[in-house]
Amino acid sequence: MKSISYFLATIIIFTVFSCNRRSKDISLTSPDLKSQLIFSLKDGKPVFSLMKNGKDIVLSSPMGFEIKDFPNLDANFVIIGEDFSNSDHKWEQPWGETKTIRNNYCELKVFLQTLSLERLKMNIIFRLYNDGLGFRYEFPEQENLKEFKIAKEETQFILPDNGYAWWIPAYKPERYEYLYKKSSISEIDTVHTPLTIETKNGWFLAIHEASIIDFPSTTLFGFDTNKIGCDLVPWKNGIKAYVKTPSFTPWRTIQFAEKPTDLITNYLILNLNEPNTTVDTSWIKPGKYVGIWWGMHIGQYTWGSGAKHGATNKNTMKYIDFASKYGFDGVLVEGWNIGWDGDWIANGSIFSFTEAYPDYDLKKLTEYAKSKNVQLIGHNETSAHIDNYEAQIEDAYKLYESLGIKYLKTGYVGQKLFNGEWHHGQYGVRHYQKTIELAAKHHIMLDIHEPIKDSGIRRTWPNLMTREGARGMEWDAWGTDGGNPPNYVPTLVFTRLLSGPMDFTPGIFDLEIPLKPNNQVNTTLAKQLAYYVVIYSPLQMAADLPENYSNKPEFQFIVDVPCDWEDTKAINGEIGEYVTIARKDRNSSDWYLGSITNERPRDLTISLDFLDDKQDYEALIYADGVDANWKTNPYPLDITNCTVTSKDSIIIKLAPGGGQAIRLTPIN
Ligand code: NOJ
Repeated sequence: MKSISYFLATIIIFTVFSCNRRSKDISLTSPDLKSQLIFSLKDGKPVFSLMKNGKDIVLSSPMGFEIKDFPNLDANFVIIGEDFSNSDHKWEQPWGETKTIRNNYCELKVFLQTLSLERLKMNIIFRLYNDGLGFRYEFPEQENLKEFKIAKEETQFILPDNGYAWWIPAYKPERYEYLYKKSSISEIDTVHTPLTIETKNGWFLAIHEASIIDFPSTTLFGFDTNKIGCDLVPWKNGIKAYVKTPSFTPWRTIQFAEKPTDLITNYLILNLNEPNTTVDTSWIKPGKYVGIWWGMHIGQYTWGSGAKHGATNKNTMKYIDFASKYGFDGVLVEGWNIGWDGDWIANGSIFSFTEAYPDYDLKKLTEYAKSKNVQLIGHNETSAHIDNYEAQIEDAYKLYESLGIKYLKTGYVGQKLFNGEWHHGQYGVRHYQKTIELAAKHHIMLDIHEPIKDSGIRRTWPNLMTREGARGMEWDAWGTDGGNPPNYVPTLVFTRLLSGPMDFTPGIFDLEIPLKPNNQVNTTLAKQLAYYVVIYSPLQMAADLPENYSNKPEFQFIVDVPCDWEDTKAINGEIGEYVTIARKDRNSSDWYLGSITNERPRDLTISLDFLDDKQDYEALIYADGVDANWKTNPYPLDITNCTVTSKDSIIIKLAPGGGQAIRLTPIN
C-alpha cells in the first residue's frame, strides 16, 4: 500500500515538474513579419513581451487576475494547448472617419489550466497587427468555475524605459474632464486611457482597451520607473468585476508607431470590436446641428423655467428656421423637460424625460422641425441619477420614437452615478450599454455626455454616434481655470481622440463671454473652423448663438464642411504642439484640411500629394489674419482662394493659438 501511494505521488510530482518544464516561449509574428509577441509561463505565471524590428516595446510583463474564493488566475498554470490563426479582410464603416478598414492580424490563443485541484481554465487570445497588439482573457465554460469575483487584474505593461506620458487623472470628481499633464512615466498618477507615451527608445505608444462589455473599464498606474499596472474601476463594495463563465474581458491594447501622427489613423480599436450584426443601419445618419445650448453656458438663457428659459416654443422655432436655412440636420434643445428648476445637479431624481415645460410644445415643435426638414434632437440630462432614468427610459424612448425624434443627447453630470458607483465601473458599463441597446431598438442615435470612455463599440452598435468624455468647448465658457488652453486640442488629438469621436461642440465666433468677463475662448476664430476637420465626430455642432453667425462670411466653412468621411490623413503633428489633418468627404470629391497650433505661431509646409493627381482643385482658405493672436487679437481672418494640384505644397501660417481650415474642391 505504502509503495503504491509513493508511486502515485511520484507520478504527480513528475507530472507537475514536467508540465512546468514543458512551458516554453510561444512566439507570434505580425503580418509584415516585423513585430513579435512572446508568451510564456515563468514558473507558472503568464507573461508576455513585445518588440518590433528588434526594438523592445513591452518587456516581459505579468498577466492574469486575483479572484475571490478561488485559486488566483495569475500563477500555477500549465499550457494545455495553443492555436494559431490569421486574418486579412476589409470591412466598411456605415459612417466614420474612413470608409474602408483593413483588418490584418495574426492570432495566438493559449489555453491555460491551473495545477490546483480545481483545474481552473483561462485562455488568452493575442492579436498582433503590424502596428498594435490586442489581447483579451477568456473564461471558458468549465465545471469548477461558474461565477466569480475579480479582486485585481495583474496585467502590466513594463516599458523599455522611463519615457514621457500624457495623462489625465482617474477617480476624480470631473470624470474625464481634466487638462492633460505631461510627465515621465515614473510620475504618473492613476490615469485614464488612452494613455499616450513616448519612450526613449523611439516609440509612440497608446495603451487603451477595446470592446468594454459587462466588465469594468481599466485605469492605469505607474510604478517603479517604467512599469504600468491595470487598475479595474471597482464597484462601491470594492469588488472589481462580477464574472460568469463563459465570457471574455475587453481587449487590452497597445498601439505603436514611430511618428505620433500614425496613432491617429490606427484602427486597431475598431478592428477588435465585433462587427454589427443586429442593427439595421439604414436610418443612421451623421449630421451637423445647432442648439439651444451655448446660451445656457454663457448665462444668456437658463435650463430651468422663468424669464430666461431657453427652451421655449418661440426660441426653438427660431433655431429650427436657422437650421433649415443653412442645411443643418438637427436642433438640440436642452432644458425642454421638467426637472431643471433649482439645483439640477443635486436634484436629478426629479427629472421627467417625457413631460415638457408648459412653454415647450414637444409634439408641435417636432412636427414643425419635420416640416422644415430638420430633426429635433432630444436631451436627457440624468444628473447621474440612474435609478430615476432607468425607471422612465422605456417610456421616454418609446415616446421619442413615436414623435420621430432620432437623435438623443444624454448626460450624467455628477461625481458618481446612483448609489455611489463610478461612471467607469461595471455598473456604469452596464447602464450605458442598456441605453445603447434600447436606443437601437427605438431607432435612436446617441450622443453621450459624461460617458464611459470609448472602446470602439460603435462598430457593433452604430447608433452610438459620439460622446464627450473630455473637456469640451463649454469649459471656455465657465471653466474657473480660464478654460481650455491653446495646447489642449493639439494634445487631445493624440490622447482622448484616439479612442473615437468626440462631441466637442466647436464653432464659437463670439470669442468673448459678455456675462462672464474673466472667461474667453482661448483660440483664434480660424482655429474654431479648423476644429471641424481636426476633431472627428459624426454629429458636429455649430455651437454659437445663431445671431453670432450672421454676416460672417467664414460661417460658410461650417455650412460646407461634412462630418462623414471617406478617408483621413494625419499629415503632421507633435503632441501638444500642432497637428494637421486632411479628410475626404464621403459624398463628394472634396477634401478638407484643418491645422491647429498651441500658443506658438508656426509656418507649416504641407504637401498636397493626397489629392487626386488627375484633378485641379480650388482651395478656399480660411487663415489667421495679420497679427491674429488667441489672447490679444483673436478675430482677424483672411479668406482667399487659389488653384492647386497634388504636386503643390502650400505654406500654412498659424498665429499664436491659431488655426487654418481649407476646402479643396475639384475644378472640372
Ligand atoms: C454637461 C454637458 O457636457 C453639456 O453639454 C450640457 O449642456 C450640460 N451637461 C447639461 O446637461
